[in-house]
Amino acid sequence: MTSDSIIQVRGLQKVYRTGDVPVRALRGIDLDVARGEFLAVIGPSGSGKSTLFHILGGLAAPTDGEVIVDGQNIRDLSDARRTELRQHKVGFVFQKYNLLPTLTALDNILIARYLARQNGPLSDDFKRILDLLGITKRLDHKPRALSGGEQQRVAIARALVNRPAIVLADEPTGNLDTENSTIVLELLRAINHDRGQTILMITHNPEAAAFADRVVAIRDGRIAVDNPG
Ligand SMILES: Nc1ncnc2c1ncn2[C@@H]1O[C@H](COP(=O)(O)OP(=O)(O)O)[C@@H](O)[C@H]1O
Ligand SMILES: [Mg+2]
Repeated sequence: MTSDSIIQVRGLQKVYRTGDVPVRALRGIDLDVARGEFLAVIGPSGSGKSTLFHILGGLAAPTDGEVIVDGQNIRDLSDARRTELRQHKVGFVFQKYNLLPTLTALDNILIARYLARQNGPLSDDFKRILDLLGITKRLDHKPRALSGGEQQRVAIARALVNRPAIVLADEPTGNLDTENSTIVLELLRAINHDRGQTILMITHNPEAAAFADRVVAIRDGRIAVDNPG
């Protein structure tokens, strides 16, 4: 275990017991992510990728194993402290966007700032990101008036607005055309290079994975391949 790991995972298991039959979604994951790394996670549908990210982001609890995020063992944290970790250190891009339907795109972004108790106007840097993402003119619209791709880019903006140390992006280009995919991937690479933000990205697309420093493949809840890029 190296001390400059921003994420350390040991023996992580997750069993869902919501249905009649327990689902073993993660079956013993060991993973270290270095501070400032850009990691891609690939693997078939149902292999446990989103579950892993939900646990790393403090959105779901492990069944067994250790998860240390920026020096804090999430098992030791109260619900309130885990929420705080998520709001201050992690930016999460949900596979299904999870925008609040009654709020405009702008308010969906601002609520992330509000929850992290960040006040003041949006920085010029962030306004440039909104421009890059092509959503500046769409900010007054509610999600239902936006295309899937626009909603996905709003979700990306929301994940970045607090400049989180860790960005967890679950298929962030899943609903984007080639041009917008490239814009998003170059944006992620830029904030990784220029600001040292650690990025973990789930993707199905080998071209997207090629933007990362390292690719980890998950299969049946286990790490099958771990390749430095
Ligand atoms: N909230 C949940 N309740 C019950 N089973 C779940 C839940 N979330 C995911 N699963 C199951 O866990 C397994 C892994 O799912 P998931 O992490 O979403 O995989 P992936 O993101 O790789 O497609 C799948 O069998 C899925 O059906
Ligand atoms: Mg998934």
